[in-house]
Amino acid sequence: MDNNIPTHKSVMMNEVLEILNPKSNETYIDCTLGAGGHTRKILDSADCHVIGIDRDPMVFSLNQDRYKSYGDRLTLINGRFGELTNHISKIGIKKVDAIFIDLGVSSMQLDTPERGFSFRYDAPLDMRMDDNKTSVFDIINKYKEEDLANIIYLFGEERKSRRIAKNIIEQRKIKKIQTTFELSNIIKKSKAGKYHKIHPSTKTFQGLRIYLNDELKELYSALISSESILNEGGKLIVISFHSLEDRIVKNFIKYNSISEKKYSLGNTELPFYYKTKRVTKPTKSEIKENPRSRSAHLRYVYRTSAQEILKNNSHNFIKYGGVSV
Ligand SMILES: C[S@@+](CC[C@H](N)C(=O)[O-])C[C@H]1O[C@@H](n2cnc3c(N)ncnc32)[C@H](O)[C@@H]1O
Repeated sequence: MDNNIPTHKSVMMNEVLEILNPKSNETYIDCTLGAGGHTRKILDSADCHVIGIDRDPMVFSLNQDRYKSYGDRLTLINGRFGELTNHISKIGIKKVDAIFIDLGVSSMQLDTPERGFSFRYDAPLDMRMDDNKTSVFDIINKYKEEDLANIIYLFGEERKSRRIAKNIIEQRKIKKIQTTFELSNIIKKSKAGKYHKIHPSTKTFQGLRIYLNDELKELYSALISSESILNEGGKLIVISFHSLEDRIVKNFIKYNSISEKKYSLGNTELPFYYKTKRVTKPTKSEIKENPRSRSAHLRYVYRTSAQEILKNNSHNFIKYGGVSV
């Protein structure tokens, strides 16, 4: 614990370090600094430079104090990784040797009740990762039934979305829905008798969070930027926690990379090459020690020597599996 702020256990640390293989004088971007677990290990492994980005102002100010000792080897940026190119050009950097993305929320966010990310604590409905004006309170209390149902279905993959949306609207007629527990009780009522392994509110809360923070578009933008930011041989490493995110990463790799073998034979038609197309998952012992790691999916590719060939308009959010309402 640090100033009573919950700590975050970094996921798949060994796998990330092995792929990234930090070297002196190289520069890496950690797009999702969080508690700085991955960044700290990277900085401790070699005399390298890390640009640590996080959209959450709380995370940012915490890390400013915590990691002073790294001096100018660590550059902190408070902002969204969807604007990667802008962020690094503002600090005079054009190319880097790796881009790392560890998606989702940190335990610091999840376990700080007043942030409203978790149905396990009673708190105002919020879930904003940054200073977004709209919060989940606005979505729940202002959106039309059909839009609510679509958000819960598309972003949460919740099969009972229509019933949940209907019950939210019914409840709203009586009084505004203010708290996580109020929302969770409506969801539980809507899913009565269907309580299996995961909590009935998991999918709806996750869907609302992903929609509110525009998380899929953020991911898509960062993937696209990586083509122009990575040096030849540079690594793009992504850990996702949700099938919607993983689908986008998987398809991005599918459409934009070739095998290492083809690349070594001189094929430079695409901007990335892969050593394996298979997803890497946490070991059983990591899952036992840190159950939050259980849904982690890691994928990675390397930048080829191909000139920047894929201009933005050759990418397509929907083709890569993105969803929008
Ligand atoms: C899973 S945590 C990262 C944990 C970190 N790797 C560690 O070891 O401590 C994800 C972090 O990414 C941040 N984040 C999520 N989406 C973001 C985005 N689009 N831009 C910048 N930061 C983002 C969240 O605020 C959160 O702090």
